[in-house]
Amino acid sequence: MSGGIRRLATAVQNLGPKDRTVFVVTGSLIGHPSRQDELKAETIAEALKSCQVHAIGLTADDLALGEAMIASVDRLSGGRVLTPQAGSLPNRRESGPFLVGVAESKLAEQAARDLVREAEAKRLVPILLFDDGFEAARRVAEATAGLRLIVYRHAGSASREPTLVGQCLLITPGNKGKALLRLEWTGESFRGFAAVDLGPSYADDERVARIYANYQRRVMSEGMLDKVLRRSSDPFAGNKVCGSCHLGAESVWKQSRHAGALATLEKESQDRDPDCTGCHVVGLDLAGGFRSRAETPHLTDVGCESCHGPGLAHAGDPQAIKMPKVGAKSCAPCHVPDHSPGFDYKTYWEKIRH
Ligand code: HEC
Ligand code: HEC
Ligand code: HEC
Ligand code: HEC
Repeated sequence: MSGGIRRLATAVQNLGPKDRTVFVVTGSLIGHPSRQDELKAETIAEALKSCQVHAIGLTADDLALGEAMIASVDRLSGGRVLTPQAGSLPNRRESGPFLVGVAESKLAEQAARDLVREAEAKRLVPILLFDDGFEAARRVAEATAGLRLIVYRHAGSASREPTLVGQCLLITPGNKGKALLRLEWTGESFRGFAAVDLGPSYADDERVARIYANYQRRVMSEGMLDKVLRRSSDPFAGNKVCGSCHLGAESVWKQSRHAGALATLEKESQDRDPDCTGCHVVGLDLAGGFRSRAETPHLTDVGCESCHGPGLAHAGDPQAIKMPKVGAKSCAPCHVPDHSPGFDYKTYWEKIRH
């Protein structure tokens, strides 16, 4: 939900003529069940409907959303949800020349055989959205003649090449929705595999951008940021207090992008989203940390104590109370590959050396 879904929509548009494109999605729509993840699941469902999705295969994670939520996701997606568990929603769906089915790891071979049998009866091509990893997918492919494609789950990156097992291709989109996989069906076989990276080269799709903006409004209006869990902590002093003695450090900090980190979010109205704010302020996960610009004006942005830790006691008596030593480790919680792909301690530290 860092906004990639707006680019996904554009990439789907570019795939080819709508009436000859079958777009399928494997969960997981959510991370762990929480109110915000419910909002995400609904938003993704709406966005996928706008992309004219043909089938959304739920995974075990998604099932944790509970029946009422899943029903809502199904409705918002235009009735495109497939679930591996018996219930009110289907586990298969016809789309173009395909019969798309889902399976979880339990009883997967049984589910695959049933899918192939029904596909043969209907003269359709069976493809399976599979809630398990490569090895399990290979076993299913080996055990099930007639299956043509398995889209399996993998916590890492997307397939660069498909794996062929008998007549069945195995591919994975990886996690976090960062790639769109494309295949052409010739009527006989799949060809033309491509993994499309959903990088910033894709413009945002306007309709999905509106759906996304609505999600952000809901995150704000439901006060998600006020509900974050906090650990107890020592009290913070704030940048001004630290800077009053450490003038050199303060002037470097003021010139750095850290000093404008909250404004960066405010510009996009994302400053009240727990998925964003934690890395753009001081101590969001701590009792004494940032709450809002109005309540805690001294803890806005990535401040001294984002890296050095709470230091009110040191500020009161610097000779007696020392600050702990910090180094490269202090950058790690925020400069993660997803948000700072080019991070390198040496070159980054040079820019903020103090
Ligand atoms: C609390 C989270 C957090 C921590 C800890 C943190 N950063 Fe950052 N850093 C950010 C954010 C957020 C930005 C982007 C701010 C913006 O542009 O709005 C950033 C930007 C930067 C930039 C500017 C990048 C550029 O291309 O100019 C540098 C340099 C940097 N950080 C270095 C570091 C170093 C070195 C450390 C560890 C000693 C560190 N940061 C620790 C969150 C953090
Ligand atoms: C895990 C920490 C983390 C989270 C969570 C996070 N950011 Fe950041 N953000 C960073 C860091 C670190 C940078 C600086 C990256 C760099 O320059 O290497 C950054 C930079 C940015 C920038 C400046 C990009 C640029 O190059 O101008 C924007 C905009 C931004 N973040 C928005 C967001 C939004 C919106 C969210 C929530 C959807 C978010 N961030 C969540 C750590 C985070
Ligand atoms: C982005 C993370 C980060 C921010 C923000 C930051 N510092 Fe630092 N600071 C460090 C790191 C890392 C070091 C240690 C660098 C080294 O010597 O390896 C350091 C070193 C220092 C030192 C020298 C410590 C020593 O042992 O000599 C002082 C004093 C200091 N910082 C004060 C501040 C003050 C005051 C602020 C705010 C105005 C601030 N820092 C903001 C990461 C940060
Ligand atoms: C009242 C002035 C004052 C304030 C306020 C202050 N410091 Fe210091 N700080 C000092 C002095 C003096 C030293 C050197 C202590 C020594 O050498 O014995 C020091 C040392 C440090 C060091 C090096 C490690 C150590 O403890 O010797 C760091 C890091 C540091 N300060 C960070 C901060 C941060 C972060 C803040 C804000 C939370 C802050 N300081 C607030 C005066 C201050």
